[in-house]
Amino acid sequence: MTSIKKWPERSWGVLQLLLVVCVCEAEEPVCHRRGDPENPQLSEDGDIILGGIFSFHSSWKDREETYTNKPLPLECTSLNFREFQFAQAMLFTIEEINNSTDLLPGISLGYKMYDTCGSPAKSVTVALALTNGNEDVSAQSKVPCIRPAQVQAIIGETSSSICMSIANVIGPFHIPLISHFATCACLSDKTKNPSFLRTIPSDYYQSRALAQLVKHFGWTWVGAIRSNNDYGNNGMATFTEAAQQLGICLEYSVSFFRTDPPNKMQKIIEIIKHSTSKVIVAFLPFPDMDELISQLSQHKLTGYQWVGSEGWIIDSQIAEMDKHHILDGAIGLAIPKAHVSGMREFIMDVKPLIASGKETFTEFWETLFSCKFNQSNSSAENQRECTGHEDLSELQHSFTDMSLMPIFNNVYKGVYAVAHALHNILGCNETCNYKVQQDPFTILQQLRKTNFKTKEGDEVYFNENGDPPAKYEIINWQPRKKGTVDFVTVGFYDASLPAAKQLSLQNTSLIWAQNTKQVPVSVCSEKCSPGTRKVLQKGKPVCCYDCIRCAEGEMSNTTDSISCVKCPPEFWSNDIRDACVKKESEFLSYEEIMGALLTAASLFGTCMTAVVALIFFRHRKTPIVRANNSELSFLLLFSLTLCFLCSLTFIGRPSEWSCMLRHTAFGITFVLCISCVLGKTMVVLMAFRASLPGSNVMKWFGPTQQRLSVLVFTLIQVVICILWLTISPPFPFNNFQVIKDKIILECALGSTLGFWAVLGYIGVLATFCFLLAFLARKLPDNFNEAKFITFSMLIFCAVWITFIPAYVSSPGKFSVAVEIFAILASSFGLLICIFIPKCYIILLRPEKNTKKNMMVKGLVKTK
Ligand SMILES: *[C@@H]1O[C@H](CO)[C@@H](O)[C@H](O)[C@H]1NC(C)=O
Ligand SMILES: *[C@@H]1O[C@H](CO)[C@@H](O)[C@H](O)[C@H]1NC(C)=O
Ligand SMILES: *[C@@H]1O[C@H](CO)[C@@H](O)[C@H](O)[C@H]1NC(C)=O
Ligand SMILES: *[C@@H]1O[C@H](CO)[C@@H](O)[C@H](O)[C@H]1NC(C)=O
Ligand SMILES: *[C@@H]1O[C@H](CO)[C@@H](O)[C@H](O)[C@H]1NC(C)=O
Ligand SMILES: *[C@@H]1O[C@H](CO)[C@@H](O)[C@H](O)[C@H]1NC(C)=O
Ligand SMILES: *[C@@H]1O[C@H](CO)[C@@H](O)[C@H](O)[C@H]1NC(C)=O
Repeated sequence: MTSIKKWPERSWGVLQLLLVVCVCEAEEPVCHRRGDPENPQLSEDGDIILGGIFSFHSSWKDREETYTNKPLPLECTSLNFREFQFAQAMLFTIEEINNSTDLLPGISLGYKMYDTCGSPAKSVTVALALTNGNEDVSAQSKVPCIRPAQVQAIIGETSSSICMSIANVIGPFHIPLISHFATCACLSDKTKNPSFLRTIPSDYYQSRALAQLVKHFGWTWVGAIRSNNDYGNNGMATFTEAAQQLGICLEYSVSFFRTDPPNKMQKIIEIIKHSTSKVIVAFLPFPDMDELISQLSQHKLTGYQWVGSEGWIIDSQIAEMDKHHILDGAIGLAIPKAHVSGMREFIMDVKPLIASGKETFTEFWETLFSCKFNQSNSSAENQRECTGHEDLSELQHSFTDMSLMPIFNNVYKGVYAVAHALHNILGCNETCNYKVQQDPFTILQQLRKTNFKTKEGDEVYFNENGDPPAKYEIINWQPRKKGTVDFVTVGFYDASLPAAKQLSLQNTSLIWAQNTKQVPVSVCSEKCSPGTRKVLQKGKPVCCYDCIRCAEGEMSNTTDSISCVKCPPEFWSNDIRDACVKKESEFLSYEEIMGALLTAASLFGTCMTAVVALIFFRHRKTPIVRANNSELSFLLLFSLTLCFLCSLTFIGRPSEWSCMLRHTAFGITFVLCISCVLGKTMVVLMAFRASLPGSNVMKWFGPTQQRLSVLVFTLIQVVICILWLTISPPFPFNNFQVIKDKIILECALGSTLGFWAVLGYIGVLATFCFLLAFLARKLPDNFNEAKFITFSMLIFCAVWITFIPAYVSSPGKFSVAVEIFAILASSFGLLICIFIPKCYIILLRPEKNTKKNMMVKGLVKTK
């Protein structure tokens, strides 16, 4: 074995006998064979020999080895008729090429076919026998232990695992191995299997296609069963990966092998019984599927939707075995249907087959017709005696079933690829050049480059991984009345197309498990409707989740949303939380009750002021009006009117103008108002002083000074307001923060300092006024205004002091309402306290309204 390493990379078609041990005695190497010779099951001589490796038996007897003596040869069991069909397909192709005058003219092809029994160990032996030949190299002959390869290329095997074993053995010698049915993606790895080629697409594509198929029907919660070999394990690994990317979860993924003990199968059946998923993806070759179905039939596990790999999905033998209709409605991928003219007839004609193999075909014939040749005398079983002339055409059997024609076509393509490669190497035209050395490495190189069309029109070529283009048909098992099943093609999958177009399902009606037309549902959790989002369940796969309603102000408008989206600031989520709606805007309007009431109060105040002014004007000549500084009184009434009216600017949708107007109008009118009151208070104080002997105060606070002081006080406020408006004026502002689902339209202050300056100035004046009035309240006077002014100022200050906390804490329109209320309350306070008592006297007690009465103590005098 060590000699392999010393070999140059290219092994010029020369092989060392591996089963021969070189004992280097003296100079000449002497070669001994080890082990028993392996004989081909079928063989025919020719100029060029092709190898064939098939598993005519699918299993073998397990023997306990004692390791004390040489193991007996493998005892193969379970004849597998499909493999005979593959062998027949190969024979057919060889004969067709042999007959052809275009391809390899004048060259006869021979073959050697071996049986592996499905055993990797046997397959290695067989592969070596095929390359080495069986001829004994006698120890005495002194022939060097090198020899050209026996076969130029090998067709086979069916199973991926066995192909791995064979490819590993023959890989270093670059003998091409072309498989018709080994799909494991692992075989694409050319560093491990440099000489492996195949005419069936790799599972790399099939697994992805299956995942897409599962996704297409919305099954996100599936179970998986695989065969515990390279085919199943690799295929399922790729499927799992692809499924994960597509958001499909596997509830369980179990594996088994047909030779496993029964309790293993029992466990699998328990798992299926206790599962909640309704879809089972089965990545199994048909012998394992056979086993599984017979077990499931015993337990009558029906009602599951099966999704299958190409290993069993068009297997009519499995359909026949499925007496309980467990698999009805199954869907899966298959190699596109094919037809090779003449092949069917060739396969059905077994005479040449029987002729070329002897012992195997006794067993073949006996199993096929359930009869016995040379019936033993002791066995009393009433088995029919074989005649050797039984009629195959009347037989319903897996051997006569042609549903695997696509695979036969793969064998056909493989043999043709070899022939084309040889044709090119030998420079065949009319005749071929025999002289050209045919070494496996050149053939392998040539095979990889080969590109031809079969007579049926299939294009054959291999990509850099030795794989053909990946095309599949989607098959649906549709039960018929007679109890048979039709494999209906319902769509296609082509991996060479862009991802979105790869899977195309025709519009034919599919039939699902239990003969329904409704696509089965297999999900762990129902879809989350819009307005909710998924929340994964702890410790469960991602397909299991709860749907949680979106929070306020968030929404999701797709099903199965992972997260809720926050609505933009001016939007708010609706009740179902599946859309954002524009927030309602809120402001104090004339329409609503509060606004209307305040408006009414304001208008009422205005009217009341006007009435008072009218009364005063009518009675302007009476002492009480005259005594009370009528000019200031009228100015006060005028400013009170403005105060009442300015509260209206606070009501309604804030605009740029109304915002600027609001506080400034309010500030100025109130200052005007208070300065008038202040003037009155001063007059009272002055008048008292003036009445004292030797005082001349009145001169200092005559009407001119009164007007001037009112003007100056007001101007100060006007200057403050102008500064505020020019530096940083109030502006309309949409407040999203205070109330979540509403937009508050309000006036931002622009400059807080400006606002508090305006308010503070009013406060200072009011306090000053209050203090003066307080000082004057006890002055002796028959009609001392100061008492009323004190009282009104008390109300005024109380109102505005309570206003500040209320204003700061009320949200939205209520702060505006509070401000209006404060304006109205203080205005009414002034109006009522200062003017109503006088009106009372004017209107109801005119007898008190005399100069005499006023002058009783001679203290109050205005002019
Ligand atoms: C190929 O053809 C030759 C004669 O042309 C024949 O002797 C040989 O048996 C044929 N081989 C096969 C496999 O048909
Ligand atoms: C090959 O030729 C022989 C005789 O010409 C014919 O009987 C046979 O059917 C041919 N085989 C194929 C596969 O075409
Ligand atoms: C049956 O036995 C006879 C002799 O007993 C033998 O000649 C014949 O070949 C046997 N047939 C088979 C199919 O083994
Ligand atoms: C059948 O009987 C013959 C003698 O009559 C005997 O030699 C032979 O071994 C028997 N065959 C079997 C399979 O028992
Ligand atoms: C094959 O034959 C054709 C004419 O029959 C000739 O033109 C061509 O050059 C030949 N090719 C080779 C490779 O000999
Ligand atoms: C395909 O199927 C849909 C409903 O399943 C049907 O409405 C539509 O007409 C079908 N289209 C064709 C081309 O059959
Ligand atoms: C979902 O909302 C997004 C933005 O929030 C929008 O772009 C999209 O059109 C909406 N989709 C539907 C189906 O309403």
